[in-house]
Amino acid sequence: MDKFVITGGRRLEGTVAVSGAKNAALPAMAAALLTDQPVLLHNLPRVRDIATMGRLLAHMQARVEFPWHQWESAAKTGSSPGAARLRAERISHAEAPYELVRTMRASVLVLGPLLGRTGYARVSLPGGCAIGARPVDLHIKALEQMGAEISTEHGYIEARAPLGLYGAHVVFEKITVTGTENILMAAALAQGETVLENCAREPEVTDLAALLQKMGAQIEGAGEATIRVRGVEQLRGAEHSVIPDRIEAGTLLAAGAITGGDVSLLRAEPRHLTAVLAKLQEIGAVIELPAPNSDAAGLRIRGPAVPAPADVSTQEYPGFPTDMQAQYMALATQADGTSIITETIFENRFLHASEMARMGADIAIDGRRAVVRGPSRLTGTSVMASDLRASAGLVLAALVAQGETTIDRVYHIDRGYERIEEKLCSLGARIRRVQEPTRG
Ligand code: UD1
Repeated sequence: MDKFVITGGRRLEGTVAVSGAKNAALPAMAAALLTDQPVLLHNLPRVRDIATMGRLLAHMQARVEFPWHQWESAAKTGSSPGAARLRAERISHAEAPYELVRTMRASVLVLGPLLGRTGYARVSLPGGCAIGARPVDLHIKALEQMGAEISTEHGYIEARAPLGLYGAHVVFEKITVTGTENILMAAALAQGETVLENCAREPEVTDLAALLQKMGAQIEGAGEATIRVRGVEQLRGAEHSVIPDRIEAGTLLAAGAITGGDVSLLRAEPRHLTAVLAKLQEIGAVIELPAPNSDAAGLRIRGPAVPAPADVSTQEYPGFPTDMQAQYMALATQADGTSIITETIFENRFLHASEMARMGADIAIDGRRAVVRGPSRLTGTSVMASDLRASAGLVLAALVAQGETTIDRVYHIDRGYERIEEKLCSLGARIRRVQEPTRG
């Protein structure tokens, strides 16, 4: 298991490119199951979750033409955006096994497309994960409304729709990102019209809809709370480039802010970052937006000498993303005053707080609220990454900690960040990846 050894205290400066969005790439790959024709995807991030999805598609006998084993060793591969050609000519094995689903909950994204295309799917239940229970009941309920018969036995969701799915009026009780995506894909091949209400409005949902439309799907309203899908009999192949990763961009901007640095991002999409940029400005960072239609200028942040405190509450898009909460907490430890961080999306998503406290942060957790009193002088120690975004928060804390911080279990960060240590080092950070031989 790899570790990061980070020497703190360096101001970050320079320009770095943002990779493709993992959370847009995963549903786009799953969408390839909806057609027997090739789907060509560009701008895939070289991260471990993409490799896992590639392996999952290959398990279903889909032809996956991209060197997905290279994605495994993201740190060693080049920086050019990855492309993949996926072709699910026949699906002889409509199953997502536990071994793959347990490492990546987003594997559940194959449920809707498999059921829509073949009338059958068997997908392992994701089970608990570090940041809370994360059920998939809303995915199941919506598919049942569309005529699927679903049983959950032996840890698997088994879904059948031998006569195909049909259109339905689905109102999601709670906003769910992958739930909206799953049902969008299932509805694309259902008979008749499906109306989805209380949908997730995340840019990744809109990006998936754009791909599905290229494949011939009839979708109206993606990016809004109500989406209408008129089912078609067949979908065709398509070519698509996934959107830039707004969470990676936000993390790099936070790295610029926390070090009082001057960082510019290439290929970022500021329109997807409105809430994050507003919060960074509130704590005193200066943001420069790229000139319209310009590739070169980038999105620039100049961090404050000492950040001002500011409360934040995570919300569904377009609110402040839960996936930026841990990174924001690192920033709040450096603010001159008290910041209250409220996590409204996931229970138990403050695991990074105790690790930051071990580095010297003053954080009190009270249910879904974290009270962060700054500024704290952080000092390097050994900390443990517990999930993907928590790891990013710890990396940011380590960038300003005095001395050396060792972050264990960085496989969490490799799931979703492409060569983050190389990107940060190119801005002046001191991060070493230490490979540890895996024990027997
Ligand atoms: C997606 C993102 C993840 C992000 C999250 C919230 C991907 C691959 N992952 O995860 O990075 O943190 O959105 O922005 O895109 N819920 C239910 N029942 C369900 C489904 C969800 O109760 O059937 C609850 C969850 O427990 C959670 C909330 O709804 O409290 C939101 O979860 P959801 O939007 O589904 O998250 P994911 O799609 O898994």
